Amino acid sequence: MYSRCSRRRALTLGAGVLAGLGTAIAAKAGVKAAYRHYQAQVLDDPDRTFDLVDLTPLKQRAQAKGLIFGAAARHQDLVSDPALADCYRTECALLAPEWELKWSAGNARLRPDPAQFDFTMADWMVDFAQTRQMQVRGNALVWHLCLPDWFTERVNRQNAESLLVQHIQTVVGHYAGKVQSWDVVNEAIEPQDGQAQSLRRSPWWEFLGPDYIDLAFRVAAAADPTAILAYNDYGLEYDTPDNEAKRQAVLRLLERLKSQGTPIQAFGLQSHLVGNELRFNPEKLRRFLSDVASLGLKILISELDVIDRELPQPVETRDRIVAGLYEDFLSVVLDEPAVITLVTWGLSDRYTWLTEFHPRSDGAAVRPLPLDQALTRKSAWRAIARAIDAAPTR
Ligand code: XIL
Repeated sequence: MYSRCSRRRALTLGAGVLAGLGTAIAAKAGVKAAYRHYQAQVLDDPDRTFDLVDLTPLKQRAQAKGLIFGAAARHQDLVSDPALADCYRTECALLAPEWELKWSAGNARLRPDPAQFDFTMADWMVDFAQTRQMQVRGNALVWHLCLPDWFTERVNRQNAESLLVQHIQTVVGHYAGKVQSWDVVNEAIEPQDGQAQSLRRSPWWEFLGPDYIDLAFRVAAAADPTAILAYNDYGLEYDTPDNEAKRQAVLRLLERLKSQGTPIQAFGLQSHLVGNELRFNPEKLRRFLSDVASLGLKILISELDVIDRELPQPVETRDRIVAGLYEDFLSVVLDEPAVITLVTWGLSDRYTWLTEFHPRSDGAAVRPLPLDQALTRKSAWRAIARAIDAAPTR
């Protein structure tokens, strides 16, 4: 049941907002098409440009503001594509392994069975980063997804705690001193599950109850006292009832953790933005971030990209809307001085999880990231650069 990251399970990942949009009813499809047209008109400003003269890489621009810029990547892509690897070296001061530090994702199997750890791919990633003076972000120690196939059969109430503790001790211990920040607990809030404190009915919750969160942070802190320990979540960026409920629940969780002395130092705002979502409210987002910061937590923009699934196909229009969103969103979040790190979930459209998880129905390639398929900087790159340049120094 809690198997690896299959496409079916993963439809619940990231921008769950889009999950319910599909319908076979022709009438509804007509309404939907009209609404999409309306959205595109509202979102697209044909006069908007993203001019930029200075082409200094993102990592230097960020550094000048006291920020760390990085991106996620997969082992298989860095190994097979030296030109891509070069782009990471140029643009990034931080690498977030996309699969290799999860229990099991893609072709990466950190946990081949309950008694074993295979650090081969993850070690390669950490080594790649270190030899290029990049920091590393660890995602994710405790999550309800990307669990190995053996998980359902082998894990139960009796052994879940020792398995969790051993996993965190071993993995965090293995990389002690080498990781900037760990997503210790990922996506533990889901108000729609109807449980106390809006906790998600994850297998960890089912087996261990609400205290698994505090336990995970304590074990991680003991295994590496130098890493920034973070709680990471999605679905928090928009002015929708779902996102609002989740913001409140996440805030309550962070407050509880801080007040009970859990060793948590940061909050990760995933930021899988939805290209066609109009309900973006800068004031609510600002307030949420400042509420998080007032708890004494740092903030990481941990998985930024723009889902362009529902945007008009023409590349010029689509890129302009995507770039506009990057600039609008970042101008709000980078204003918050507690934000110390900015990570995009991939660097080039050549390799992005959205090709699989949120493909376009017209078959056009998705364009969610700063570099295009040819590894060329596009307007999204310039939008990010402009937003960083405009951000206050921290
Ligand atoms: C995703 C990866 O990008 C996919 O390739 C993988 O199969 C599933 O996980 N939230 C997270 C990330 O915290 O770990 C997810 O990464 C995307 C949503």
